[in-house]
Amino acid sequence: MTAQIINGKEIAAKKKLEIAEEVARLKTQGITPGLAVILVGRDHASQTYVNNKEKTCKELGMYSLLIEMDEKVSEEELLGKIDELNRDSAIHGILVQLPLPKHIDEKKVIETISPLKDVDGFHPINIGRMMTGQNAFLPCTPYGIMVLLEETGISIAGKNVVVVGRSNIVGKPVGQLFLNQHATVTYCHSRTKDLSLHTNQADILVAAVGIPNFIKAEHVKEGAVVIDVGINRNEAGKLCGDVAFDEVSEKAGFITPVPKGVGPMTITMLMYNTLKSAAESLDRD
Ligand code: GUN
Repeated sequence: MTAQIINGKEIAAKKKLEIAEEVARLKTQGITPGLAVILVGRDHASQTYVNNKEKTCKELGMYSLLIEMDEKVSEEELLGKIDELNRDSAIHGILVQLPLPKHIDEKKVIETISPLKDVDGFHPINIGRMMTGQNAFLPCTPYGIMVLLEETGISIAGKNVVVVGRSNIVGKPVGQLFLNQHATVTYCHSRTKDLSLHTNQADILVAAVGIPNFIKAEHVKEGAVVIDVGINRNEAGKLCGDVAFDEVSEKAGFITPVPKGVGPMTITMLMYNTLKSAAESLDRD
């Protein structure tokens, strides 16, 4: 079988159009969705992500505020800035780009962001609300994966889903979102014995380990849906995922490529969450 490619770039473009329309509608009601992004230090990859977020905000007609802080900024000053943004009515979403320098406590930073403006969906209140199936900001990459499947017409209820990876940002929450939609979910990680035994049961396999070409054809059931969350560089410096694309795409039913798979959905769902926050702030007034 040769897999059908799930084109994340195309699906993201469609979703962004819908978001832009909704932003325009909110503006007629006197509210412009606003996203504040805090970047601490000058990490090259983080700068690229942040620039992309700013660009996309503008494209969709949203207000974007970039706050750049020195690598040596004190935790107190950063928390003070978040507090100020929590009280700023022009700002509906606050994102602190991770990772942060070692002298800053990431958990404390995340918990200082108002859960009502936590468009990353990282605050324990939003995680708890997601787990209990309540209205919440869903973390952007997991949410983007669910939208990719929905837009491709892939059903989830009753399916065996295997998630390889257990990070707080992707692995853990994506498994929870699948569970919320009635899948049977298995988590695999670095201490899993006989990985293939589990992954070969997967109707839907999510690879989120951060190791180039980690998932090979032998790990994949014929006709499975394979979602590749990895963004790695191989030995030649070329962008690649966690899935050995060439061999796995010969066996899978559907597969997301890297790039142009999951990646474009992450930023799109961030925009969606900012829009949702703005709309909900209007409902609270
Ligand atoms: N660093 C890498 N991915 C993310 C993300 O989704 N949100 C934030 N805040 N930082 C990141």
